[in-house]
Amino acid sequence: MTDFQSWARHTQQRMEQVLDTLLPPADIAPQKLHEAMRYAVLGGGKRVRALLAHAAGELCGAPKEKVDIAASAVELIHAYSLVHDDMPCMDDDDLRRGKPSCHKQYDDATALLVGDALQTLAFQSLATPQLCTHANRQLEMLNLLAIASGSRGMAGGQAIDLASVGKELDQSELEYMHIHKTGALIRAAALLGAYCADDVDAERINAIDHYAQSIGLAFQVVDDILDAEADSETLGKTAGKDAESNKPTYVTILGIDRAKQLAQELLENALTPLASYGEDATRLHQLAQFITQRSF
Ligand code: IPE
Ligand code: IPE
Ligand code: MG
Ligand code: MG
Ligand code: MG
Repeated sequence: MTDFQSWARHTQQRMEQVLDTLLPPADIAPQKLHEAMRYAVLGGGKRVRALLAHAAGELCGAPKEKVDIAASAVELIHAYSLVHDDMPCMDDDDLRRGKPSCHKQYDDATALLVGDALQTLAFQSLATPQLCTHANRQLEMLNLLAIASGSRGMAGGQAIDLASVGKELDQSELEYMHIHKTGALIRAAALLGAYCADDVDAERINAIDHYAQSIGLAFQVVDDILDAEADSETLGKTAGKDAESNKPTYVTILGIDRAKQLAQELLENALTPLASYGEDATRLHQLAQFITQRSF
């Protein structure tokens, strides 16, 4: 196992524990909702957003215990977005993280409520008093996650995604959609990790911001490529779904080869602002490579 793989595994296991503690136990009422929330969050996912928060936190010298809180908030929002994304009124997808999607395992109403409850739990987590010594900083963090998740961020990107079915978008329209539906939360993950440091140096924040914007877009470009090229078993979700649903993607607009080339260019753009940080940015560097070269 490479050094990166063992760091990633260790961080994923750490996050599993943090999320397990944060989620209400399944034997507390309302049991079905709590069980479904745990089903949607635990035991799956690459935890890329949590890894980004930790990697950015490392570059800024943030305490891991604080980054755990920020990272869990982003993973909860992300899990909620997946639960809703899979519902029949959105992508109508039966498979997620190698298991039946939440609405298949439970029912539509439960899946809707799981999303609602995970979203509010995320903000509850980010409002934890131990997170910051300065209340203003914490308010900034809450504001950042709210904007990244809402109609000017992920939810807005999802609205554009649904409105784009069957349409031919040009590359800048597609980029706008991807930056919102996926990029916004990825950017928030990295910035929130950095903001967990007691002393935040504006230059580092700026570098992380540029890095995260490029890698956030690259993430969805690769997601589009994998949807077209990989199989459902490897992905743990239904392959070929974008073409079946007539969604414009980087693959439909550029073709596979140019989409891969774009992912490579975005990787290079992401790494440029990290150049002056040497070894302190190793994890962010490795993570960017993982995001662009992953097979699932
Ligand atoms: C899938 O995200 C949805 C997108 C935003 C493209 P991930 O590929 O990070 O999903 P998990 O968390 O690993 O299941
Ligand atoms: C989903 O994009 C983005 C969010 C959930 C916000 P996709 O619809 O492409 O994600 P997958 O491929 O189903 O994971
Ligand atoms: Mg979708
Ligand atoms: Mg989907
Ligand atoms: Mg996809």
